[in-house]
Amino acid sequence: MSGRLQDRVAIITGAGQGIGKAYAERFLGEGAKVVIADYNKERGESALADLKGAGDVIFVPTDISVPDSAEDCARQTKETFGTIDILVNNAALYYDIDNADNSYEYLQRVFSVNLHGAWLMARAVVPTMVEKRFGRIINQSSEAAYMYSMVPEGPFDELSAFTYSQTKWGVIGLTKFLAGQLGQYNVTVNCIAPGVTMTEATKKIVPEDIISIIPMMSAMKRTLEAEDLTGSALFFASDDANLVTGQVLCVGGGSTMPA
Ligand SMILES: NC(=O)c1ccc[n+]([C@@H]2O[C@H](COP(=O)([O-])OP(=O)(O)OC[C@H]3O[C@@H](n4cnc5c(N)ncnc54)[C@H](O)[C@@H]3O)[C@@H](O)[C@H]2O)c1
Repeated sequence: MSGRLQDRVAIITGAGQGIGKAYAERFLGEGAKVVIADYNKERGESALADLKGAGDVIFVPTDISVPDSAEDCARQTKETFGTIDILVNNAALYYDIDNADNSYEYLQRVFSVNLHGAWLMARAVVPTMVEKRFGRIINQSSEAAYMYSMVPEGPFDELSAFTYSQTKWGVIGLTKFLAGQLGQYNVTVNCIAPGVTMTEATKKIVPEDIISIIPMMSAMKRTLEAEDLTGSALFFASDDANLVTGQVLCVGGGSTMPA
């Protein structure tokens, strides 16, 4: 029986752990050939070992914030699997982020991964997609992009850099600009904005008292697991979404409901 992504070639950035790894597993289960593109060798190799029984999968060490590395990932994907059909721009500084650093230099660093890295990866794969007149790009934003007021009350100390949230808003904008440019070549570009998902990164980054109130703030009264997000990525990557482009899907159990 063939899967919904049978023989499609998908690069999934940041698939060394967490949500990206769950996307990789789901895509493999649907018949895709998957490239785990992660800058952390240990995570990438461990994900590869866990997933290699599930189908055609390779690990290509990739730092999405480095132009040559992004191009090299696209090149190695084509050498191994012959083409590129799907890019999931999932990698971000999240587990590895330093939320206490409000410096401009660090803001630039986070942008270089979370936003510009997504653009660099898109730039690396788009010529192949345009040439074959088929492509699916799925960007990963966050409901954190919509949480404008989650700052502690008290005397003013310094201006927050809002590094993570700024970049995740940027990802939404990038989605729409890419969609506008690439639609005529049958390349769709969409975005998933997950709510709080109980990955290792969330357990490390988000304070327990915040995690404990998340269910109260969501319609479904629960937090998410990485597996709760994979159906949305599969939809955007599949033929069911052929004419869906430039869209943002909040998947957070109803904690954010933009118009
Ligand atoms: N977990 C959540 O609650 C949540 C909610 C909303 C959005 N997100 C987003 O979903 C994505 C995955 O989340 P997660 O919880 O699995 O995070 P995570 O930090 O566990 O995973 C991110 C992966 O990206 C990799 N990575 C980081 N920088 C990279 C770079 N420069 N080049 C290549 N790979 C790099 C890391 O090694 C890691 O494997 C991220 O974009 C995150 O911002 C997560």
